[in-house]
Amino acid sequence: MPNSATVGIEAMAVHVPKYYLPLESLASANGIDPIKFTVGLGGRAIAIPHPNEDAVTMAVEASSALLKRYNVDRSRIGLLIVGSETGVDAAKPIAAYVHGFIGLHSMCRTFDTKHACYSATAALTLAREWCAGSGRGRKALVVATDIAQYDRGSPGEPTQGAGAVAMLVGDAAAAFVFDDFPEAFYTRHVMDFWRPNYRNTALVDGPASIKSYLEALRTTYASYEVQSGVPFNGYKHLLFHVPFPKMAFKAFKTLYEREASRRNGDGMPFPLDESFERCTAPALWANRELGNLYSGSLYLSLAGLLDRSGATVEGARVGLFSYGSGCCGEFFSGTVGACAAVWRGRTGLTEGLARRTALDHQGYLAFRETAATLAREGSFNAVLPGVEQTGAMAFLGIKNHQRVYGLVSAEHETAFIHTPPCEPSRTAPTPTA
Ligand code: COA
Repeated sequence: MPNSATVGIEAMAVHVPKYYLPLESLASANGIDPIKFTVGLGGRAIAIPHPNEDAVTMAVEASSALLKRYNVDRSRIGLLIVGSETGVDAAKPIAAYVHGFIGLHSMCRTFDTKHACYSATAALTLAREWCAGSGRGRKALVVATDIAQYDRGSPGEPTQGAGAVAMLVGDAAAAFVFDDFPEAFYTRHVMDFWRPNYRNTALVDGPASIKSYLEALRTTYASYEVQSGVPFNGYKHLLFHVPFPKMAFKAFKTLYEREASRRNGDGMPFPLDESFERCTAPALWANRELGNLYSGSLYLSLAGLLDRSGATVEGARVGLFSYGSGCCGEFFSGTVGACAAVWRGRTGLTEGLARRTALDHQGYLAFRETAATLAREGSFNAVLPGVEQTGAMAFLGIKNHQRVYGLVSAEHETAFIHTPPCEPSRTAPTPTA
């Protein structure tokens, strides 16, 4: 029988888009003091998806890298959940494309979850319960994939970003094991951020979203503290949903001040800024480079922490706060296992960031325009200036109301495909007990 005490994340891989826009370029094009973006919001750059990248290709790239890098046996995967708010179709889930393109067995439950940036946490929770129960030794693949896009010149524009994080969940998670404490979540119907079906950019009431985020954090943290008995200083690291890096500081400050006021003058071991540098900042370096991944941003922080920290986080308890506008929040925690060194440099972040190319502002605008053209019916085979192949998997446009994806070979020959290219894995995932 599965052991719920060892259920957790067994492997993680991040897909980093090849292009980025330095925030200083955006600030100067928009006539804004760049310090507002780099210090006020805390970012350095935002990942810009190539027009041939979409939520499907990014999820496929992250998942394929995970399967290859960690030598995962596809036949053991019995559940695939994609968390996203960048749906490419109102009915067909992203997970169905991913399932086909990475060649999983047909005896695999496959679906998407959506609740703004909370969706991957919902997926992870389901995967975790399944692995601890009816999954019986099989693995779950959870993928967070999103393109965060706001109107040009809007306050949200410097908080854009893109990318995907794939996580293998199983009951032999030596590396990051979920703590088995009662859950702490919070839901409230609020219009702080939304994207109507007829728009490809999100609408947001920024101040309302920050207020709602912090309210969900206070509520879930207090509930988790009572139920788990883990005190503030019981966490070596506290990670948060990161719509922009400064938000993680606001979140940390909220918990720090709450704790300081409860100590009745007993004092905190370190001042606020130093505590933040020790507790949360070590996880934020990748968020500063990629911007907002929506569903993946909390897990980008986790990957960033594990990728760089190695042995220094072995045995560390990590608290995680997930927030999705609309809204739903959840606080949970986990413990890094004794083999944290296996994570170091293995999430794909280092190579992904090293092979990036900076865009200038004109290039960024051209990508946006071409992506909007490609998203229309009949765009496949149209002459689109600036479109090129970006990697193994490319979105090539729409034909007969179907999305067309291409596989680019090493010789740069493109195979056009409408249907999944891979034969499903022939071995059915078998429960172990
Ligand atoms: N130098 C240094 N800092 C500066 C500055 C300058 N020249 N100009 C502004 N700032 C600081 C502000 O003081 C503020 O810091 P603070 O929050 O610590 O007070 C920060 O930069 C942002 O400035 P502000 O005027 O509040 O920004 P804004 O109104 O343009 O928009 C958001 C900020 C977050 C509301 C906006 O980016 C947004 O809508 N984002 C999308 C939604 C989102 O991310 N929500 C978060 C919860 S999910």
